[in-house]
Amino acid sequence: MSDLDRPREEGPLLLFSGNSNPALTRKVAQGLGIEPGQALAGRFPNGEVQVRIEENVRGADVFVLQSPQGEDVDGSLMELLVMIDALRRASARRITAVIPYLPYARQEKKTAGREPITAKLVANLIATAGASRVLTIDMHAPAIEGFFDIPVDHLRAAPLLAQHFLGLDPEQIVVVSPDVGGVERANKFRQRLGTTLAIVAKQRLGPQSTEVVEMVGEVKGKIAILIDDQISTGSTLVGAASVLIERGAVDVRACATHGLFPPGAVEYLCDSPLEEIVVTDTLPEVDEGAGSKFHTVSVAPVLAEAIRRIHQNRSVSALFD
Ligand code: R5P
Repeated sequence: MSDLDRPREEGPLLLFSGNSNPALTRKVAQGLGIEPGQALAGRFPNGEVQVRIEENVRGADVFVLQSPQGEDVDGSLMELLVMIDALRRASARRITAVIPYLPYARQEKKTAGREPITAKLVANLIATAGASRVLTIDMHAPAIEGFFDIPVDHLRAAPLLAQHFLGLDPEQIVVVSPDVGGVERANKFRQRLGTTLAIVAKQRLGPQSTEVVEMVGEVKGKIAILIDDQISTGSTLVGAASVLIERGAVDVRACATHGLFPPGAVEYLCDSPLEEIVVTDTLPEVDEGAGSKFHTVSVAPVLAEAIRRIHQNRSVSALFD
């Protein structure tokens, strides 16, 4: 066993959760062979976040899982910050914020004058609340890691998503990046599947709409697999799917790490030419009734393994790819 893999534990391991994705917390806890920690995370009558940790955490190695997203994204983020504060004041030895989906990550740069860089503000808030480190999956831009002045373990879901498509003949498929910013991600995915790459260039018209500008690559007669970090309204993928079909793709599927699916998105994607949409459970799963187009692969095993390794002070980098 190398030094990087020699376990050195830091007090008992505890896993707490906010209200954003309790199903994922349960699966991760199961993978670790523990019960989720006892805590109250609710609201005072005036709407303020109320948190109480209901067990002893003194000297413990504590993980708090929260994926802020949806209508109450800010309340959910606040819940995470307040839980971290409560744990710090209760003398937890080390606090890792497990944030499978990092909110505000798309606001990582200014696109016009007088705009904020909210991803940086969120990183500051998490560290200021008292997190010792962060564990996350597929941040919108890898450079966001540098916004944190605490260690960040940044896992990738691509190996899990690729497994879903391994049954397809590599000769028959082409991996497609739905925008220029995603080319590196798509190229790595292409390598995993041993196939070719095409690129769609889009421009954003507004928060809810995009337009395809151009496409490069050969897709005629192929099964096209679009890969993105996240699906929100679905506009990016549906726009790309239309151009791929125009250029002769026989079947278009899509996968992404995070399925945000604001109201209307699931219906929009159900009515689209996309044959299949695969996401992970970093965010709550789409209702089963929504249609057989949607498939979910779980990140729980990889999160549990990362937590185990962090707890034992073993290398996590083996899980990055
Ligand atoms: C943008 O750069 C992201 O990678 C996604 O392509 C985008 O967030 C998807 O949003 P929508 O589904 O609303 O087009």
